[in-house]
Amino acid sequence: MSMLNQKIYVAGHRGMVGSAIVRNLAAQGYSNILTRTHAELDLTNQAAVQSFFEQEKPDQVYLAAAKVGGIHANNTFPAEFIYTNLTIQNNVIHQAFLNGVKKLLFLGSSCIYPKLSPQPMSEDELLSGKLEATNEPYAIAKIAGIKMCESYNRQYGLSHNVDYRSVMPTNLYGPGDNYHPENSHVIPALIRRFHEAKISNAPEVMIWGTGTPRREFLYVDDMAAASVFVMELDKQTYDSQTDPMQSHINVGSGSDITIAELAQAVKAAVGYQGNIHFDPSKPDGAPRKWMSSDRLNRLGWQAQVVLKEGLSRAYEAYLVG
Ligand SMILES: NC(=O)c1ccc[n+]([C@@H]2O[C@H](COP(=O)([O-])OP(=O)(O)OC[C@H]3O[C@@H](n4cnc5c(N)ncnc54)[C@H](OP(=O)(O)O)[C@@H]3O)[C@@H](O)[C@H]2O)c1
Repeated sequence: MSMLNQKIYVAGHRGMVGSAIVRNLAAQGYSNILTRTHAELDLTNQAAVQSFFEQEKPDQVYLAAAKVGGIHANNTFPAEFIYTNLTIQNNVIHQAFLNGVKKLLFLGSSCIYPKLSPQPMSEDELLSGKLEATNEPYAIAKIAGIKMCESYNRQYGLSHNVDYRSVMPTNLYGPGDNYHPENSHVIPALIRRFHEAKISNAPEVMIWGTGTPRREFLYVDDMAAASVFVMELDKQTYDSQTDPMQSHINVGSGSDITIAELAQAVKAAVGYQGNIHFDPSKPDGAPRKWMSSDRLNRLGWQAQVVLKEGLSRAYEAYLVG
């Protein structure tokens, strides 16, 4: 069977990352992409996931469905974050295995790394120290997902030819982002606030903190491209840069910027003419969060969309709604 005819299930295809993966696969000519909305298939329902896999028998799975949220949501609903994410990934990974799926890609997050990891954070920082307390339940689920993929490879790799891989994205932004006024990540929050200030001719936009913390950002279509790239790597190449018990791959842009520089870039993308004011009485968070993408770069992948271009595309998508 040609690669392009393979039946590929993208779990979470209405989400920011899942929809970008579907765009990427479709653009490459994959013609048999399988999707289900949350309403059609609740991935926490084991029996429903079992019958879905038994009926559909996909060849590959991209697991981009998850319960995600900011600090406030993680603090308020820690039980839901750990239960839902563990259950989704247990159901999908195990049913994929039982139904003959050879290739699966699990999406994690940079929060798997300890709070005090040296920067940039490389893959071998995993399980080297204490996690950030606020999203520990979510991070533990993601770590379990990586370890579940590795365990299935170790037990069933030779006997059943399974090859389950994991990618850990940095902060993502782009079409499909969450622009909720109180519960969004920094880029969508800034796009919304600069846009609203532009429309109302507000003289200034106030931003929490000093503007000095450094963060890394990746355009979501780059993340999708990296996901498909990692999924399609031949096993020998993939194995050359990973270990059976340390197999995950960071996906970042390769550089970070200060929040002040980011604010200027979003202001320019939106076309806001007023001033930016920082409020140093508000908390800054960690001084730096930056992932090492050396492993992925050595495998032959680099981010393509520079921040300026990504922000204007994100703003266009925001305007379309
Ligand atoms: N966004 C980022 O900056 C970022 C950074 C690092 C890692 N990631 C990772 O990338 C993955 C996708 O994130 P995202 O930003 O695309 O999130 P998202 O936009 O919230 O998408 C998640 C998708 O999963 C679906 N889903 C949630 N629970 C489900 C369930 N029980 N059954 C079926 N579907 C369910 C959601 O559907 P409903 O909306 O209908 O519930 C949604 O379509 C996650 O694993 C996340 O950890 C994201």
